[in-house]
Amino acid sequence: MLRKFCLFLFISYVCAKHEIYDGWGVYEVSVENENQLLTLQELIEEMTLDVWSYAHLSRPGIILVPKLKREEFHNRMFVAGLPYVIESDNVKELLDLEDIRLETAATNNRANYSDLGLDFETIHRFDVVDQYLVDLAAAHPNVVTVMSAGRSIEGRDIKYVQISTTNFQNHSKPVVFVESLLHAREWATLPATLYAIKRLVLDVTERDLVEDIDWVILPIANPDGYEFTHTNQRFWRKNRARGFLPMDRCMGVDLNRNFNVNWGTASSNNVCSDTFHGRHAFSEPESTAVGNIMRRYSSRLAFVADLHTFGSMILYGYGNGELPANVLLIHLAGVQMAQAIDAVKWPQNRDYTVGNVVAILYHASGSAGDYGQLSALPFGMSYTFELPAWRNNQGFNGFLIEPDFIEQVGFETWEGLKVGVRFALNQWRQHRRSL
Ligand SMILES: *[C@@H]1O[C@H](CO)[C@@H](O)[C@H](O)[C@H]1NC(C)=O
Ligand SMILES: *[C@@H]1O[C@H](CO)[C@@H](O)[C@H](O)[C@H]1NC(C)=O
Ligand SMILES: [Zn+2]
Repeated sequence: MLRKFCLFLFISYVCAKHEIYDGWGVYEVSVENENQLLTLQELIEEMTLDVWSYAHLSRPGIILVPKLKREEFHNRMFVAGLPYVIESDNVKELLDLEDIRLETAATNNRANYSDLGLDFETIHRFDVVDQYLVDLAAAHPNVVTVMSAGRSIEGRDIKYVQISTTNFQNHSKPVVFVESLLHAREWATLPATLYAIKRLVLDVTERDLVEDIDWVILPIANPDGYEFTHTNQRFWRKNRARGFLPMDRCMGVDLNRNFNVNWGTASSNNVCSDTFHGRHAFSEPESTAVGNIMRRYSSRLAFVADLHTFGSMILYGYGNGELPANVLLIHLAGVQMAQAIDAVKWPQNRDYTVGNVVAILYHASGSAGDYGQLSALPFGMSYTFELPAWRNNQGFNGFLIEPDFIEQVGFETWEGLKVGVRFALNQWRQHRRSL
């Protein structure tokens, strides 16, 4: 009886939580030609809609539309002759379901923070991960050093770990940098960095990866935004910067448009946009922290992975369509990573796509991936991963988390990263030999 009552209370609490998304729709929109693509892009900008996945001639776009804008959206789609499918008529229902499933998974595994580190049953909050990094370094002082890259706007410490058998003192090893959660709502990226940490510190089966490489891993690049997705708005993407005119109506800077590389040339100047680039390059402490990490290790930086969701893509620079000098090797390593992931992925998820970000998605300036490419060695490689959206026959999930997929996404991404990192290590050795 008591249990039932609690369950009832729990569900009603959960159900009140995502009130702001009540009646919001998720749409899949197909475009048949360049004209329609342009029309759709204009419409999205004018209505400041939240694009979950950009439309392309070869694949439909996915767009979140607020309840109060849905009628206008339908009308404009009709006028433009753009066909759409409603993936969800009320995204709040999906969010309630996500909460219940994650909470159940977490309850079943409470206190499973053991010798093998954090469990992969749920998506851990900032405080848990933050403490975990400290504890991990304390328990493995010969391999792990916890570092601070700076503080977020709300004062959270942006911690990362150095993993090295030689305490970063042996400069004949290359450095690899992997980060997740630069975009707050992209929860599936967190298990990927946590899984990498686990396989490099706690559950080591491939010693060469630990011994031959110095690793830098940052699990939560945007802690304020990330916490906000847990407490307020699940689909928040940016950081929590405030103080923008007019009157603080909108908040947040898209950190992945705020890096100092072609800044402001292919991003939004509208504070309310999800790709708002900020007042100037590196205006935000979080992007500055990540940029500082890249520069700090740049003399040995051979491989960078900035993890995002979703789309099953491995993208490289530059976001203005220019290609890095070593693009053929970047592409080759990208394809090898994609094949390694595809070989172990869930069958219902699509194969990975690999390419320059402009060819595959869109123009984008000020991205972490581009800044990583510029910071890395001349033969270094920097990638933006779009991890898969889990899909099954019940349909669509987008950014939503399926508990069973948490460990899988960590595992399969690691299978890909390993291949890319070994490729980069090989490049490093060849270049050192030729010096
Ligand atoms: C922790 O995980 C192990 C193995 O995954 C499981 O057998 C055990 O029941 C879990 N412990 C708790 C307290 O849930
Ligand atoms: C430094 O790293 C290189 C390359 O991994 C290795 O060959 C060498 O033995 C290392 N030196 C020391 C002192 O650990
Ligand atoms: Zn992202």
